[in-house]
Amino acid sequence: MSGQITFTMIKPDAVADGHIGAILGKITEAGFKIKAMKLTQLTIADAKKFYEVHAERPFYGELVDFMSSGPIVAAVLEKENAVEDFRKLIGATNPAEAAEGTIRKMFARSVGENAVHGSDSDENALIEASFHFAGREIF
Ligand code: GTP
Ligand code: MG
Repeated sequence: MSGQITFTMIKPDAVADGHIGAILGKITEAGFKIKAMKLTQLTIADAKKFYEVHAERPFYGELVDFMSSGPIVAAVLEKENAVEDFRKLIGATNPAEAAEGTIRKMFARSVGENAVHGSDSDENALIEASFHFAGREIF
C-alpha cells in the first residue's frame, strides 16, 4: 500500500461551515478512492498526540484546542502518488497563499482553521491511518 495511500481530516471549521460534501466531491473528482471514512471528534489528548511533532511551535495550544473543538471527518485515501498529489489538491497551509481551485483556497477560514489535513509522507500516512482506524475499517 505504501506510496498509494494518504490520510486526511476535514477539520472542524469546514465541517461547521457545511463543506463536507463539497470537499469529498473535490477529492473523488481528483481520482482518490475512499478506503476508510468516519465522522468523529478528537479529544484534547488525541489532538496533542496527533500533532506532537508541532509541540514546540507557538501555535500548538491553539492547534490542539481547534482540532478538538468539534467533529471532523477522518479518511484514508488511495491513489498513485497519493501524498504528493493530495497536498497539491489541498494547497498551501495558509489559504491566502494557496493556489486557485485548491481545497484550502476555496474552503479554509485562515492559516489555523484551514479546512483539511493531508499527510506529509508515506510513513506518516500509515501512522496517521492506524491512529484513527482499525485494520478491519480500512477497505
Ligand atoms: P496539516 O495538513 O494540517 O498537517 O497542515 P500542513 O502540513 O500544511 O502544515 P503544518 O504541518 O506545518 O501545520 C499543521 C497545522 O498547524 C496547520 O494545518 C495549521 O492548522 C496549524 N498551523 C500552522 N501554522 C500555523 C500558524 O502560524 N498559526 C496557527 N494558529 N496555526 C498554524
Ligand atoms: Mg503537516
